[in-house]
This record gives sequence, C-alpha cells and structure tokens, in this order.
Amino acid sequence: LAGSAEAGAPAGAAPAAAAEPATLTVLYGSQTGNAKHVAGELASAASARGLTVALTDMADLKPTQLKHEKFLTVVVSTHGEGDPPESAEKLHAFLASKKAPDLTGTQVSVLGLGDSSYEFYCQAAVDFEDRLRALGASVVADRLLLDVDYEDQVPGWVESTLDVFEPELNAVSPAGGTVVQLPGLSAAAPTAYSKRNPFTAEISEVQKITGRDSSKDVRHVEISLEGSGLTYRPGDSLGVFFHNDAEAVQAMLDALGLDGGAEVTLGEQTKTLRAALTEDLELTQSYPGFVEKYVGAAAEPVEALAELVEDKPALRAFLEERQIYDVVHEHPARITGQQLVDSLRKMQPRLYSIASSQSEVEDEVHLTVGVVEWHGFGRAHLGGCSGHVRRAQEGDEVRVYVEPGDHFRLPPDPGVPTIMIGPGTGIAPFRAFLQEREAQGADGDNWLLFGNPHFTQDFLYQVEMQAYLKSGLLTRMDVAFSRDQAEKVYVQHRITQHGAEVFDWLERGAHVYVCGDANRMAKDVHAALVEVVAEHGRMDAEAAEDYLSALRDDRRYQRDVY
Ligand code: 2AM
Repeated sequence: LAGSAEAGAPAGAAPAAAAEPATLTVLYGSQTGNAKHVAGELASAASARGLTVALTDMADLKPTQLKHEKFLTVVVSTHGEGDPPESAEKLHAFLASKKAPDLTGTQVSVLGLGDSSYEFYCQAAVDFEDRLRALGASVVADRLLLDVDYEDQVPGWVESTLDVFEPELNAVSPAGGTVVQLPGLSAAAPTAYSKRNPFTAEISEVQKITGRDSSKDVRHVEISLEGSGLTYRPGDSLGVFFHNDAEAVQAMLDALGLDGGAEVTLGEQTKTLRAALTEDLELTQSYPGFVEKYVGAAAEPVEALAELVEDKPALRAFLEERQIYDVVHEHPARITGQQLVDSLRKMQPRLYSIASSQSEVEDEVHLTVGVVEWHGFGRAHLGGCSGHVRRAQEGDEVRVYVEPGDHFRLPPDPGVPTIMIGPGTGIAPFRAFLQEREAQGADGDNWLLFGNPHFTQDFLYQVEMQAYLKSGLLTRMDVAFSRDQAEKVYVQHRITQHGAEVFDWLERGAHVYVCGDANRMAKDVHAALVEVVAEHGRMDAEAAEDYLSALRDDRRYQRDVY
C-alpha cells in the first residue's frame, strides 16, 4: 500500500494508537485567489466525506514538513512566463534543490490553473508534478490543467480526486472529518458577496489623475460599498466585473451580419445576443481557443485563420495585440449567434489593488486604474475593465467583490518601518497602507519610492503624498521621473543611490513592499536590492540573495506585481 502512514504496514492495518489520523493535505499556491478557492472547495468536500484535511498555503508549509505528507493534492496557478505565484516560489525552488526530501510513498495529484492566452500555459503545475515525481512521489490521478473559465470543471475534479484519495486514507485510518487550517489563511469575509455572487455597487467618483499631456490615462475611482457589509484590509484587491463597449459590440454584430436582438442560451440563461456579448463574454482578451472554435463553427472555411490554427506560435503572434473584435472584423465568418456565443469564454473580473483604508474612507473603496489603450489594425483599442472605467459616469453600477491579499500586509507591529516601492499604478496599495498607518497612529518610519514618466503630468496622488511627508507620516519619499532628463531614472536607481540607508532600514527590521510591473520593474528592483545588500552588508551576491530570501520567508519582503 503506497502511502501508508506506517512504513511497511500491511494494507488496511489499523494505525498505531498514537498516530494522527491520515490527513489529506491540500496545498495551494495562489496569486489572485482562484487556486485558494478551488483548494478550499476540495477541502470542504473532503471533510464532508468525513476525511481529515489540512488546507495549507504553500507559503506556510515548512520544507521539513514535506516528507511527512503522505496524501497530497497541489492546486497551483501560473503567471507571467510560466512562473508560479509569489507565495509558491519558495516551495517551487525547494523541490528542485539538493535539500528536497525523498518522497517515496507519497501520493500526489496536481491541479493547475492558467490562462491559455499565454505561451507557458499552467507551467507551474507541470513543474510541481515533475518535481514531486522526481522525488519519488507517485502521481495517483491525472493532472488536470484548467483555463480561466475553469469554474464549471471544479466540482467534477473535486469528486474524482476524492474518489481516488478516500479509500487510501480510510485504509490507513478511519474517518476524522476535520479541516485544519494553518495560520496565515485569512478567515472568509463576513459577507455573502464573492466572485460568484458580486455586489452591485455604485461608482461615486471617477477622476483622471494624470495630466492633459501625459502619455498615460490613470483614473482614481471611488466606489460605494454602502449596504453591502463588505469589508477589506489594506493589501486586499477588488474584483471588478465590467461591460463591453456597446459600439464595439454593435460593430462586431454588423461585421457578422447578426441580429443583436436574437435570443441565445448561455448556461442556464436565455438572453439577447447583444446582452450576452455586452455583459457576459470576453471580447477584449484574445486567446487561441476562441480562434479554434470560431473556425470550427464557420459554415464556410475561413482560410487565413484556419492556417493559423495549425501553427500555434504564429497564432499567438497574430493574437498578441489583437482583441477578439479585431479577429472578427478581419475575418468575418458565416456563423450563427449561438455558435459565436459558444466560441467565446466567460468574462473574468479584473483585480485591482485597493487604494484606500476603511479607517479613512469607511464604506467606500478606492482604486487607481491605468487605462489600457492602443491603436492598430484600423481601430482604437481599450482594455476590457479599464475601458469600462473610462466610459463610466458617476452613479453607474459596477459589480464587485473583495479578494483578500494574504501576502501583502502591513507589519502587525505599527512601530516597524516600511519601504514601499510602487512606480506607476503600483502606488495604489501604499495609499491604503499610509491611510491605515495614519489612522492607527502608527509610529514606524515609512519610506515611499515612486516613479513615472513626468513630474508635471504623472505624479499620482502628489498632493496627498506631499502632505504625508509634511506631517511626518512619510519619513522620506524618493521619486524617479524617468523622462524628465536625458537619462532614464527609475526607482531602482534611487534604491542604489540611497543604498546605505536602504540597508540600514532593513537591518532595523523594515518590511519591503514592491507593487507594479512584474516583467521589468520588479526584476530590476530585486537586482538593485541584491546589489545594495551585497555592498552595504559586505557579502557576495549569493549571500545577498539568501538575505532577501530570508526576508521573504519572514514575510518582510512582499510583492504585488502584475
Ligand atoms: P519609462 O516608461 O519612461 O521608461 C511607471 O510606468 C514608470 O516605470 C515609468 O516612469 C517607466 O519609465 C518606468 N519603468 C519602465 N521600465 C522600468 C523598469 N525596468 N524598472 C523601473 N521602472 C521602469
């Protein structure tokens, strides 16, 4: 019997008297909350079957604990170029390191969540399975990789996974039926509103906070949560559902010669094609699966697209800057309204780091939304949710929910210093942190590093930040306006420039936070921190990396990057 808690125990043997009940560990690595929720569903279904379950955030798993896990389900999402979530990085690296334990006798199954618009689809899940198998674990259920519209497939996966593990667990020890939640897991919000049941809120204010001549359009948005009972903490995000642009939807209907008033079915609902396209389906983010289905459904061949479907890299390149609208405009197919609906995936809400603290704004929530826009293929493009925000009027409704940010939290001790690195819209959660610290009367030092193209156009929340500097809530503020001089200046240059102070703050116990662009900024900032620690801590680069890893393990180096 593989996976017996008692080495060498015969199948079905009773456990030793002192043995703990056989536990199914549901280990999740989540960036935006989806993997955490799916893991939670598995855990509650398991305990409903009378099994003992430990629901564990990968960030909280002690590496030495791993070899004691005999029944393990891993739920992990993938971000960027095949990367695991921030909170999963430590375990991801540990499993590939020399210190990784022998896992012979451990039974595992893996569920991956990902986004098929990206090339390295669900790569983190593939890595976790490969690494666990390489350590000797046996994979007892086929790995399942799910796309952004994963939700309908979760119940089936939960049941089939438990069907595999239940007899194995019961063979080791009989029913226990408890869910052990390890520390670090935030309690469920005390409200009925969630991603599945969002609250319909009112937009109370939208204000452009970049200048007239800015290359960027950033909007400060205030939303009323009045009557919802929704609460949030600094570090949380707001999930926002949106509507697609009515004109773009009409143009798409025209291109296909379809009647927007015709009825279509969408899951269990019947509604007009126009309403489905506006409210329920993803039309901005393109992905290969749409093109495949669209080509497959067409009554007459759509030749150029059909060729692309045969060549994945070419298809990805084609979709790079194109929205679904562009694909349809360029290649209108003979297709029915229902076939179009069936080719599209459900609209996913977008997550924004919350820019306010309830201690300051009570039942409002504030966001800092960068409008995504570009021109090409003969039309103007706007991002799905940010486009909606740009079109929004005060008083408009918007459906929202709170997604807890377990891995982006102020120090519990108000006396601990913080270094907040947030160029561009990355400043959002730091506005929340500062409001919170002000309300707490926290006396810890706070250092803000902000960057954007131009001082006169792009200094987000300038008046507020300067007031915080004046009042002393901000101990220091360093700005990097990249295009105000011939040479580019970025936040990481300020980190290097003030390296001695940065290191001094770290040695005084400061928590470091980084929010904003993941692809370039967060990597360059990390490199600058390594350099500063190496230089001022007089260590080599490897020791400096270890220093920062230790900070990360102590939750003193936290990132919210996208
Ligand atoms: P740039 O667009 O002038 O190059 C917010 O977007 C700010 O981040 C802008 O000032 C932008 O500068 C800057 N930025 C661009 N690349 C960056 C990087 N690798 N690291 C830090 N900041 C960067």
